Amino acid sequence: MGGEPTMMAQLNRRRFLIGSAAVVGGVATGYGTRVLGGQSILPEAKAQYPVHRAAHQSFLSGVAIRPDQIETGSGLPSGLLDPYDLIVPEYHGQWSAIEYEPGKRWFDNFDRIVAYAQSRDAMVRGHALIWENMTPNWVRTGLSETGGWSLVHNHFDAMLSRYRDSVPEWVVVNECVDTEDGVDDMRQTSFQRAFGNGYVERAFRTAREMAPNARLMVNEYGLEYDNPVDEARRDALLRLVERLKAANVPLDVVGLQAHLDLSKGRLATKAIAAFCRELAAMDVDIAVTELDVLEHDRSGSIDTRDRRVADEAQAYLDAVLHQPRVRSVATWGLSDRDSWLQERSPSTKSAASCSPVDCTTMNRGLPYDGEFAPKPMASVVDGAILSTRMRIA
Ligand code: XIL
Repeated sequence: MGGEPTMMAQLNRRRFLIGSAAVVGGVATGYGTRVLGGQSILPEAKAQYPVHRAAHQSFLSGVAIRPDQIETGSGLPSGLLDPYDLIVPEYHGQWSAIEYEPGKRWFDNFDRIVAYAQSRDAMVRGHALIWENMTPNWVRTGLSETGGWSLVHNHFDAMLSRYRDSVPEWVVVNECVDTEDGVDDMRQTSFQRAFGNGYVERAFRTAREMAPNARLMVNEYGLEYDNPVDEARRDALLRLVERLKAANVPLDVVGLQAHLDLSKGRLATKAIAAFCRELAAMDVDIAVTELDVLEHDRSGSIDTRDRRVADEAQAYLDAVLHQPRVRSVATWGLSDRDSWLQERSPSTKSAASCSPVDCTTMNRGLPYDGEFAPKPMASVVDGAILSTRMRIA
């Protein structure tokens, strides 16, 4: 069982610490002491946090987490998160998690993740300011009313000012491309219907006004495979970035979600490499933001299944990591027991929710299995990150 980080992971951590040793920063929150469960959390975590420099200088190794996973008694073996220097709230940064009801903002969960990251010198990426799927219904309705943009403005203001010095990078717009049912390849969403496709540009400009130093991202899925839909989506994302850059929109980073899927056939490795080159030529950084692998055939031996998952991750990382503008790789979770992919079928869902968890039946698409034992995918991800760091050092 994986009670300790793998050797590669320890090396990663050491390398990161060497790379960021000279960095100082702060988390002046502008909100004074915040209280969580009777304890103030942010002030203690202050001072040594290397946020901005880390974002610019290092190749970051990231993971999405939820607050329950970092609580004492969560079952997470100590040290397992140590190698990660980029933490992404898996769910608790979404608008519907923050402001489910109008005007009542619930920051505690996000705060807890920020405090945890700060206590470990890890950077936090905010995810996501605008994402249709996690937009509260009252916002969806309100956007098309007169003055609807004020909802976006107030939400951005609440998030970007509260986390001004503690969250240096934000997904501003998540999943806005749709080449099948979109309008000019842009997803029909409540934002798009209320403000037209220009909402993306407006969102970035609004975010930049409020967060002059933050690194601002778009983040997109469905870009990996050799099929006409993914090909069209790659193309549509390139055209979007091209339009935004031509209009001087403050876009700094393009996030590639990388939810790999073994039912989708061949990875378009050459096309992915070319796609990354084109993005780089438009002067954006690139981030692999949500790496995981959905299995197709769960009938083989565990070794065979884990090998297939690891090989897919390896092939994908090989294709993108050539590109020096790729500055981070994050997996969408750490252990299979917490993976959103279990929701994809009733059997994997129940395998992850029974006690003890059923590691065999569940989807095995993250670096650690349901009992936190490292799988071949852990070595692939750690190895890819380590070799990239050595190459760029
Ligand atoms: C998923 C989370 O993992 C789930 O917990 C949540 O219920 C739904 O969202 N693309 C994204 C992520 O950008 O925010 C999604 O995360 C996965 C797909």
